[in-house]
This record gives sequence, structure tokens and C-alpha cells, in this order.
Amino acid sequence: MDVAELEGIAAEISREAGDLARRRRAEGVRIAATKSALADIVTDADREVEQLIRDRLAARRPDDGFVGEESDAQPGTSGITWVVDPIDGTVNYAYGIPHYAVSIAAVIGEPTPEAWTALAGVVFTPVVDELFRASRGGGAWLGEERLAVSTPTDAGALVATGFGYDPATHADDLARVARFMPLARDLRRGGAASLDLAYVAAGRLDAYVERGLHPWDHAAGALLVTEAGGVVGGAPGGRPGREMTIATSSELFETLSSAIYR
Ligand code: IPD
Repeated sequence: MDVAELEGIAAEISREAGDLARRRRAEGVRIAATKSALADIVTDADREVEQLIRDRLAARRPDDGFVGEESDAQPGTSGITWVVDPIDGTVNYAYGIPHYAVSIAAVIGEPTPEAWTALAGVVFTPVVDELFRASRGGGAWLGEERLAVSTPTDAGALVATGFGYDPATHADDLARVARFMPLARDLRRGGAASLDLAYVAAGRLDAYVERGLHPWDHAAGALLVTEAGGVVGGAPGGRPGREMTIATSSELFETLSSAIYR
């Protein structure tokens, strides 16, 4: 398995997809549908960008599976599945906030909560023009810079979070923020999970905590964090995902997890 080749394919396609997203945004955006909640929206551009990624992957890797946020999953025969969020941060995108990204990961097996392993992943933010990339065992990179998670200081952590789309969980989400705030220097809610994870990998954030994520939100970003020397975990004893995703340095992980679950 050539993980560098998978990373290269993802990088190339993410650039083309990001350019399309940026151009469509400049032409004006229409919210095509509101899905499970007011914040859970899809634009015409999300669908068009996902189709482009799907077509490019099918041309380059016809035997691989595909799981995307905006279209039906397609099982493959190669054992590799591509996990894609065409525009992560759709609410930012719809409102003209440039903090959004294309997220593409190649994983072994189906991206079920039980078991999957990321081989390569990229997070590309087209407005800022930053391409974060990682392959299993090959490190996490931004251009020529090898990324490393931050080392904790006594000053407190810069922690990002997000709020899942299920309104029934929001009171709990806010209570969770109150529990970890004593450890934090400050809080961020960027609105794009893949970028929150990429920023943890780059040491721009010390930690990221959110529940309710789907595989396309975190498959690429989680690989960036682990390849940058960090840890990505879930609820105690569980995998990262719907229940909880905590991404930070190994030094901070237990402290943060204990504060959240105390
Ligand atoms: C969402 C964003 C947001 C996070 C949500 C995600 P989308 O993805 O990453 O930051 O809080 O949980 O679903 O819908 O914009 O692709």
C-alpha cells in the first residue's frame, strides 16, 4: 500500500475541489436544503464539489469505496474507502466566512464507528490556500513544514469546540464547556471540525473537543493530529466519533478527558 501515493491523489483533488468551492462562493451561494437541524445545511456547491471529488477518485481509483457527506455511499473491492467532506464548515461558507475546507481521507475498510484506520488524509482551505496533509507513518505537513502538536504550558490551553446538530445535546455540550474552561486560556468555535483538527496538528490550538462528529468530519484531521504526535480519543474506552472526539497532546489528554467526564 503506497500511502504517499494516496496522499498525493487526495492533495491534488482537494486543490481542484477547493478552487471550485471558492469560485462558486464568489458567484453567490444558495442553501439547497436544511437537513437535521437549522445549522445542518447543504448548498448546491457542497453537492457539486462532492461530485467532482467522486468523479476524480473513480477515474484514479475505480476499485475503492466512497463515503461522502452529501451522497450515497459506494462500497469498493480494494479494501480502501475514501471518506470525503466536500465543504467542511458549510455554515461559514454560506455566510461568507472564509474558514471552510475540503477534507479527503483514505481509510482501510468501511468507516464504521467500530474499526477503520486512516492511511492518508488532507485538509485544504482554499481561501487561505493552506494544504495540510498526512500519511500513515509519514508525518503531518503544511508545505515543507513538518507539523507537531503543541507542548502544554502552565498558561492554560487554547481549546476549540463545536456543537453537534442535535438540539437535545446542547445543554450537555455547554455544561461540558463549563467543566473544561478552568483548564483553558480561551475558547474557540471555528465552525469546521477538519480545520480544528488540522490546527491542533499545527500547534495553533492546544486541544479540540466535540461530540456528534461523522467520519467525514474527522477522518483526515484525526490522522493529521496523530501523525503530528498527538492523541485523538473518544469517550473513556471508546473510539473518537459520534459520542466524543478529543484531540490534543498526550500530556493534556487525560487531564482534559477527566475534566469532561468528572
Ligand atoms: C460541521 C462542521 C462544524 C461541526 C459540525 C460538523 P459541515 O461540518 O465541521 O464545525 O461543529 O459537527 O458537522 O456540516 O459543515 O460539513
